[in-house]
Amino acid sequence: MDVYEAVTSRRAVRAFTDRPVSVDVLRRVLAAAAWAPSGSNLQPWHTFVVTGGPLRHLKKLATERVAAGDAWDEAQYEMYPSALKSPYRERRHDFAEQRYGSLGIARTDLEARQRAAIANWDAFGAPAALFCYVDSDMGRPQWSDLGMYLQTVMLLLRAEGLDSCPQMAWAKVHETVGQIVEPRRGLILFCGMSIGFADLTADAARFRRAPLEETTTFLGGS
Ligand SMILES: Cc1cc2nc3c(=O)[nH]c(=O)nc-3n(C[C@H](O)[C@H](O)[C@H](O)COP(=O)(O)O)c2cc1C
Repeated sequence: MDVYEAVTSRRAVRAFTDRPVSVDVLRRVLAAAAWAPSGSNLQPWHTFVVTGGPLRHLKKLATERVAAGDAWDEAQYEMYPSALKSPYRERRHDFAEQRYGSLGIARTDLEARQRAAIANWDAFGAPAALFCYVDSDMGRPQWSDLGMYLQTVMLLLRAEGLDSCPQMAWAKVHETVGQIVEPRRGLILFCGMSIGFADLTADAARFRRAPLEETTTFLGGS
């Protein structure tokens, strides 16, 4: 698979089959993803791969918590600015319309949206997941390093025929994740990632992107 194909075939998959994922393959992907760039080569990511019994246990604890309406764990970082300005507000609105529209859920039906959201903590049925932590004293440049690393992981997963969904939703229950992976002191959970084989019978909406001219400016020429 060439890089363009890996990039364009990657999407956030929210329905996986229960076909197991080989830990050897995940090891190969994560070893290769370590070649992702990072400022001064700090490699600030700390990754935990969870499969089998520990993942089943985590899914059970997390989904039970969320279904019971437990309060979220104290936030370790702000996921979005409290007041999203234009054009981000409109893009987020557009995303919600597309996402819930594809599930046949009205945007105003909060209960149905919450029911759909709970699948996050079941890792969308995936048989594997990873959790990406960073030291709490790292700054914005190191957080951007995490993004490059995680995208590298997701592209390599495509090359292995695997799909993924990055999920900040796991940060909302970081204490439950911590019970399973036991991160050392000082690490905070940026996000989880569900990993597996996409269930091709499920809806696979593709989310639109802003036109290139809206996000990118070319100066000079040829
Ligand atoms: C850092 C990060 C966190 C995300 N968190 C979630 C999440 O918690 N739940 C979810 O369903 N999707 C999550 N997504 C997926 C985005 O919604 C998705 O990437 C975006 O809508 C674009 O769609 P696409 O990836 O299918 O092209 C996350 C993506 C990123 C990069």
